[in-house]
Amino acid sequence: MIILGISGLPNSQRAHRAAHPQALEIDERICQGLDSAACLIIDGKVIAAAAEERFTGDKGTGELPLHAIDYCLRTAHLQPGDVQVIAHGFDYDRYRRFFTQSAESFDEVLSAKSVIKALEQAGWEDVAPRFKAVDHHIAHAASAYFTSGYERALCIVSDGMGEVESLTVFQAQGRTLKKLHGQPIKNSLGLLYSICTRFLGFAFNSDEYKVMGLAAYGNGTAYLEAFNQLAQFDANTGSINIRWPAQALSRAEEGYPAAMEFLATLFNLAPRASDEALGDRHADFAAALQTVFTSLLESLVAFWLERTGETSLCLAGGSFLNCKANERLCNLPSVERAFVQPASGDDGTALGAALYLAAQQGELMDSGFSPYLGPEYSVEHIRRQLDEAAADGSLKWRYEGLTDEYFARAAQDIAEDKIIAWFHGRMEFGPRALGNRSILGRANGHEIKARINGLVKFREPFRPFAPAVLDIDCDQLFESKKLQPTRYMLCTARVREDAMAAVSGVAHADGSARIQVVSQDVNENFWRLLTQVRKVCGHGCSINTSFNVKGQPLIMSPDVALATFRSIALDTLYMEGFIVWKP
Ligand SMILES: [Fe+2]
Repeated sequence: MIILGISGLPNSQRAHRAAHPQALEIDERICQGLDSAACLIIDGKVIAAAAEERFTGDKGTGELPLHAIDYCLRTAHLQPGDVQVIAHGFDYDRYRRFFTQSAESFDEVLSAKSVIKALEQAGWEDVAPRFKAVDHHIAHAASAYFTSGYERALCIVSDGMGEVESLTVFQAQGRTLKKLHGQPIKNSLGLLYSICTRFLGFAFNSDEYKVMGLAAYGNGTAYLEAFNQLAQFDANTGSINIRWPAQALSRAEEGYPAAMEFLATLFNLAPRASDEALGDRHADFAAALQTVFTSLLESLVAFWLERTGETSLCLAGGSFLNCKANERLCNLPSVERAFVQPASGDDGTALGAALYLAAQQGELMDSGFSPYLGPEYSVEHIRRQLDEAAADGSLKWRYEGLTDEYFARAAQDIAEDKIIAWFHGRMEFGPRALGNRSILGRANGHEIKARINGLVKFREPFRPFAPAVLDIDCDQLFESKKLQPTRYMLCTARVREDAMAAVSGVAHADGSARIQVVSQDVNENFWRLLTQVRKVCGHGCSINTSFNVKGQPLIMSPDVALATFRSIALDTLYMEGFIVWKP
């Protein structure tokens, strides 16, 4: 069966902007249906998946993913009419009675009708009979379980909110996902983190990872008690309760003014303005938030593992992009294996909705999951782009091919403390650059963090960098259970004391690192590079950060790669066997 999965609500952002034209930049993502993506599954096999933002440059867009759909269909030489099922990662219609807005506004923004109409306007025919809405949390759960390769597992989904729930627990076995527990939006752990992110002057539903990074600099003790009053785990029911006062979550689109006021009183701390300097109290607040978030999830996951007797854990939903919390969850004593969906944000619901419907047809994934599902480019295509980009003399290039010399040369650059861009194979699905669209540098390079943050990526100086590490060197440098999440940079690990000097550029303030363990079977080209890095640096380890600049989605195509390379202080670009530099 040919199933196209899609995520996003095409009119949501537009309606949000029209209703709140004065919204601050940090409040722009207070709306549902962002991160649109498309995914194509044929007979249970994932053929292609990509987020729409990568094609249009509009980061996190919720627009109908027409470019991503087109890419998925082109990959399999299909036409829109060939698609048998269109799976969508929201099913609001089922919950219509819970929503107080007008029928017009519900239909315009949340209803399946809005997506069907958008596809029809784009020229698709016979959409309604092929359209299947999938419950948002089922789509998240399916995105993790059906790609995990496990025959049974405990599946936890946590995000800001789905249609009416924010955290759900499933017991998965074979083709079925049995729901054991669900929590309403009021008790959303994801929403709590996002509201606190906004309280700290960062963007809601966007900058949570910055708060996680900031937490390492703080001492949570001062704010812990208040957080413990606010959010608690109920050991009788296995649920999390958040004691927001009545109306605290009202006027969400205006930036949750009542919640901001409530937090200010509870913590005796003023909300930080986006342009205000970060102080110790902000780091302390972030640290307490991170501690409480982690320990609540830890209690909840341990409870449901014990209740079900499961030992395999599958996680999806935006909360599980929090790799600090994931480290603790993966290290729970009863966890034997763990899988976190790399596209744990709503982009992943395009994949999950399609996988869920495929499983219903008895079509299960037969081979291992790979997050490298995006476009790739031929040598001829790149040569044409280079000819064009270098015509004005601003770039020099030569073609070496994927020879040992090519990988050795890139490794030598890294050893010499240069910062290189690395562009190979299919683009990653999900937010992390996993060695196909990456910026790389020496793991203990001279002032490497400051140089990449300041000259290359223009990011906040407190933000850490993650390491990619060759599988055979992981145990020497990091303390890790080496579960699947570390393959995809979804779980932190402790840097070994005696390895601190070797990886000083990637150790965060609290001695952790968000590792990507690289093996030959997962990413051959990246593995070949790190094998050469090992020869010249002693360890197969480098800094790995996404190939983009602040505000730009992960780079997808060679033309954008070349334009970006030219505009920032990168030393060399290695692209499918081409070596590119600035004269
Ligand atoms: Fe979600």
